[in-house]
Amino acid sequence: MKKIIVGITGASGAMLGERFVRFLLNAGHQAHVVISPGGEAVLEEEMGMRRGAFRAHYKNSKRLFIARADDFAARISSGSAPMDAMVVIPCSMSTVGAIAHGVTMNLIHRAASVSIKEKRPLILVPRESPLSPIHLKNLLELSQIGVHIVPATTAFYHKPKTVEAMVDFTIGRVFDLLKIEHRLFKRWRQDAE
Ligand SMILES: Cc1cc2nc3c(=O)[nH]c(=O)nc-3n(C[C@H](O)[C@H](O)[C@H](O)COP(=O)(O)O)c2cc1C
Repeated sequence: MKKIIVGITGASGAMLGERFVRFLLNAGHQAHVVISPGGEAVLEEEMGMRRGAFRAHYKNSKRLFIARADDFAARISSGSAPMDAMVVIPCSMSTVGAIAHGVTMNLIHRAASVSIKEKRPLILVPRESPLSPIHLKNLLELSQIGVHIVPATTAFYHKPKTVEAMVDFTIGRVFDLLKIEHRLFKRWRQDAE
């Protein structure tokens, strides 16, 4: 069982965060979730999930832990908490900027900073379009220190027919990096194996 920190921020694509946590729990892993105030707003706007609804959504899961974004005393604020990896999904450009510059204004930034200093896998799923030179520079700097950048974009070779199938392609690529087996999309030339 892996212990994964999940940051959900105020970029469009709340469905990415919701489905990622659901699949993680279903696969038997722990999800240590932090939702920024922006993330709460977009969850409500795009999915009708009001503040607090996230916990209710997964009420039967003992592997879900939720910390407040302003709680710097939370367990995951310390490198001594034995976490396996962190994923920020979806990741806003504001959060990309904060992480790239070591600014810790909330627990997501702090946990990401800890992941970097502890040299643990950190995966960001940024969503913005078009990208400005500032966004690109911040993403490049993060990539150069080993942070995985997995844009919230789908491939088309698996011929997605639904929004969920497009979203699940991105989530599947994140699972690949976490080395978690999945069947979220059909791989290129999968039948040839
Ligand atoms: C409906 C909605 C959609 C948004 N989409 C994006 C987006 O795709 N990318 C982005 O960087 N910011 C987006 N924003 C703006 C962020 O929510 C805002 O910059 C916020 O301060 C991000 O803070 P956070 O990273 O702490 O959540 C969106 C805001 C709203 C209300």
